[in-house]
Amino acid sequence: MEENRIVDPRMSEIDEEIEFSLRPRTLDEYIGQDAVKDNLKVFISAAKKRGEPLDHLLIYGPPGLGKTTLAMIVANEMGVNIKVTSGPAIQKAGDMAALLTNLQSGDVLFIDEIHRLSRVIEEALYSAMEDNVFDFIVGNGPSAQSIRLNLAPFTLVGATTRAGQISSPLRDRFGMIMRLEMYTNEQLSSIIKRSARLLNIDCDGEGAMNLACRSRSTPRVANRLLKRARDFAQVMGEGCVTKEIVDLTLNRLDIDELGLEVLDRRMLDTMIKNYGGGPVGLETLAATLGEEAVTIEDVYEPYLMQLGFIQRSTRGRMVTSLGYKHLGIEQTGQISI
Ligand code: ADE
Repeated sequence: MEENRIVDPRMSEIDEEIEFSLRPRTLDEYIGQDAVKDNLKVFISAAKKRGEPLDHLLIYGPPGLGKTTLAMIVANEMGVNIKVTSGPAIQKAGDMAALLTNLQSGDVLFIDEIHRLSRVIEEALYSAMEDNVFDFIVGNGPSAQSIRLNLAPFTLVGATTRAGQISSPLRDRFGMIMRLEMYTNEQLSSIIKRSARLLNIDCDGEGAMNLACRSRSTPRVANRLLKRARDFAQVMGEGCVTKEIVDLTLNRLDIDELGLEVLDRRMLDTMIKNYGGGPVGLETLAATLGEEAVTIEDVYEPYLMQLGFIQRSTRGRMVTSLGYKHLGIEQTGQISI
C-alpha cells in the first residue's frame, strides 16, 4: 500500500494548513457546485428572514470536493458559530452531549463522516434534531441514570462520502440533502488561479488549465499540485507556473496527462492482466492490489468511473474500451462496453 499519494483526495495534515488559507468564506467566493449554491442562497436568506436556524443539511459526495468548506460557509453566511467534529471522533454519548450543550441558538454542528457514528449515538441524535432534547444514560447497572438535556435550536450539517450508508431514520431528519459533483476542468482552472493569487504564485492560463486537467476533478488535489509546481517553477524555471513547468512537475511525480498515478494505472493493469478486464469483485481486487476495499471504492474508483475507464456491475468491476486505450493495451475477446 502506498502512503501519501499526492493525488489522494482525502485530507492530510499538510492540506489543513493550505486549505485554511485558501478556503472561500462566502458562497460568492465558492467556485462551482452551482445548483447547490443557488439553493443554499435561497434557504439561507429565507431562514435569516424568519429569524430561524437553517434546517438540518446533509452534504454528500466523494472526498476533496469541499464539504467542510461548504459547512463553514453556511455558518458564516448565517452569522453563527460552527463546531466541527466527525463520526469516529464521538465515542460516547457524553461526548455528543458536551458538543450539543455548548451550542448557542442557531449555531452549526458539523459532523464529518456522519455515516461512522455509532448506532447508539445516532439514535440519541434523532430527538436532538427534532425536538432539541438529548436523552442519554450515565453510569451503568442499578445506578444508571437517564438524563434529559434541553438544547438551543441548532443546525446539524452532516457530511458523508457514502450516502447509501446513512440509515433512513437519520436521512429523513435532514431537511436538505445536497450532492456535490466532480468539478469541470474550467472550474478547477478558476480555483487554481484564485489559489495562485492568494498564495502569491505566478501561474499563467495554460499552466492553470494543464494542472486542472490532471487534478482528478478535485480542488484539494489541484491545490496540492499547484504548490509542487511552484517548487519546480522556482528551481527549474523562471518562477512562473507554465504549461511546461506543469508537464515537468507531473512527469517527475509520475502522474499522467489525465491525473492518473502509478496505483490507478496498476489497478487497471491488474484488472486486465489478471482478470481479463473483469468483471472482478471488489474484495478480490483489493486483495490483489494490497489495498483496502473502501480505499478503492472511495479514492480510486470515482475518478476512474468518471473518466469512463471502469464500470461497475453486480458481478464486479470491468475495464472499458477507453480504459484499455489509455493504457495502450489492445482489447481482445468479446467484451466491449
Ligand atoms: N478551494 C477549494 N475548493 C474551492 C471552491 N469550490 N471554490 C473556491 N476555492 C476553493
